[in-house]
Amino acid sequence: MIIAIDGEASTGKSTQAKKIAKKLNINYRDSGAYYRAITLYLIKNQINSKETIGNDLFSKIDISQKFENESLFIFLNGENVTSKIRGHKVSVNVSEYAKKPEIRNFVYKLLRKSSELTSIVVDGRDIGTVVFPDADYKFFLYAIPEIRAKRRHKEINDESVKIESIAREIKERDDTDSNRDIAPLKKAEDAHGIDVSYLTIDQVFEEILQKIII
Ligand code: DC
Repeated sequence: MIIAIDGEASTGKSTQAKKIAKKLNINYRDSGAYYRAITLYLIKNQINSKETIGNDLFSKIDISQKFENESLFIFLNGENVTSKIRGHKVSVNVSEYAKKPEIRNFVYKLLRKSSELTSIVVDGRDIGTVVFPDADYKFFLYAIPEIRAKRRHKEINDESVKIESIAREIKERDDTDSNRDIAPLKKAEDAHGIDVSYLTIDQVFEEILQKIII
């Protein structure tokens, strides 16, 4: 079984995906975390987003995800980068790197491989449209921008970070993700859309579970 959870930035996709994985006792993959880890590697190695990335470079990038006790851990070449990939530098650059076809293909292979042997829930932007168009269940989460910025602000828990700058970053990321030529952020026709603006985490979870017939 494959469950795709796509949607806009900061709509709680990963929170829902983890809850589903736990409830159904299946695996979880965060596709955005792959793009973030690759971005971290390329920034560290001073490779800008305009450069073409060849197979020789990809062969040096080993990324793995481990889902344990409701937490997801991301490893880049053996280093635990779970927190590092959420930093500001990666967040403001990831969408530019995620536009690149060679990077997307690299991530697609990792995701498809993860689904070969086990049931899985995957969150992202193009999971139901491109990566797993035949997914058994597809969801698309969206919410009004101000509410998403407030949630992210609370999550970051740092008063020195202004809510306006978070709102700007989210908007820029959504614009880049929605307007790119390859695999843009958009709802699959057969996805169940959920406006999470005024719903609690548990309400969204109930709505998702009701659609999944086991
Ligand atoms: O889900 P996230 O915010 O961690 O994702 C980070 C970025 O990665 C997002 O702004 C665009 C890119 N991304 C993508 O292009 N396709 C996906 N399936 C998931 C993420």
